Amino acid sequence: MKATATAHPNIALVKYWGKRDEALILPHQSSLSLTLAPLSITTTVEWGQEEDQVELNGKAAEGGERRRVVELLSRVREEAGRPLGGARMVSRGDFPASAGLASSAAAFAALALASRAAAGLPRDVRAESVLARRGSGSACRSIQGGVCVWRRGERADGEDSYAEQAFAASHWPELRMFVALLSRAEKEVGSRDGMRGSVETSPYYPAWAQDAEAEIPRALAALERRDIASLGELAERNAWRMHATALAANPPLCYLLPGTLEVIQRVRHARGQGLKAYFTLDAGPNPVVLTTADALEDAERVVREAGAVEIVRCHVGGDATVQVHV
Ligand code: PMV
Repeated sequence: MKATATAHPNIALVKYWGKRDEALILPHQSSLSLTLAPLSITTTVEWGQEEDQVELNGKAAEGGERRRVVELLSRVREEAGRPLGGARMVSRGDFPASAGLASSAAAFAALALASRAAAGLPRDVRAESVLARRGSGSACRSIQGGVCVWRRGERADGEDSYAEQAFAASHWPELRMFVALLSRAEKEVGSRDGMRGSVETSPYYPAWAQDAEAEIPRALAALERRDIASLGELAERNAWRMHATALAANPPLCYLLPGTLEVIQRVRHARGQGLKAYFTLDAGPNPVVLTTADALEDAERVVREAGAVEIVRCHVGGDATVQVHV
């Protein structure tokens, strides 16, 4: 009745931006991401308690945070088909929120894996991905490692909207990513509200969704060829298009800081001089730089000179793992 799971966060190169169903967390378009090691979150779930207890990084979770965990636990209770009781859930991340990466993807992936395994449900990547998606959309891409694609799906119940691995981490071991940390401040508009504003009020939204969908096969082809220039250019334009969509919302959503543009411009300038480095940008000010091992040090220097206060180095990580305690 007890299991421990560990999952990595992920960074999307083709972003998920906008829900077609807010309750089920179903996207308007497919997305593609890289799994980010060595960062991880480890979660233990033990069923058979009087009531649900949720502990995140040493503190009892409250409000919306607790509610989202309890909702996921309740789905496992339904699926198990036998009384499980309450769950004691303890989760700890080895990267601080200040690393500039949302922890919710790794958190809900680890929770989905641990809660199902502790309930005695057999491993099932698809069911785990669907369950993780219900906690946080991007979490469905953190069940497996390497490169994962979250297909939009067509069904109204969302059972065909889950992520699958397209390439294992071993496909391209030289690929590197790092977060260029500019600000540790919490973002003003979270991704949930930012997406809703974009879907409902941005005149560019339909074009965004159509374009992002069309980029998926191109991203896969660039990955297949291990073609950093094609992949990097694709990641940059997809990030710009997501931000353009958000900027065109009413009220407008601007996640960029002046320092964000400084980093982006310096990276582009260095590229003009031969450096193979590219950026992507989630719903926040901290760019994530995509490069290869041979260019890593030069890319980091450029980003530090542009004003990054910290660099969080990553490489492509493996599958989430789970262990059942007997
Ligand atoms: O899964 P959420 O609700 O945290 O949304 C993630 C949104 C982006 O990070 C901006 C893009 C993505 O695909 O991860």
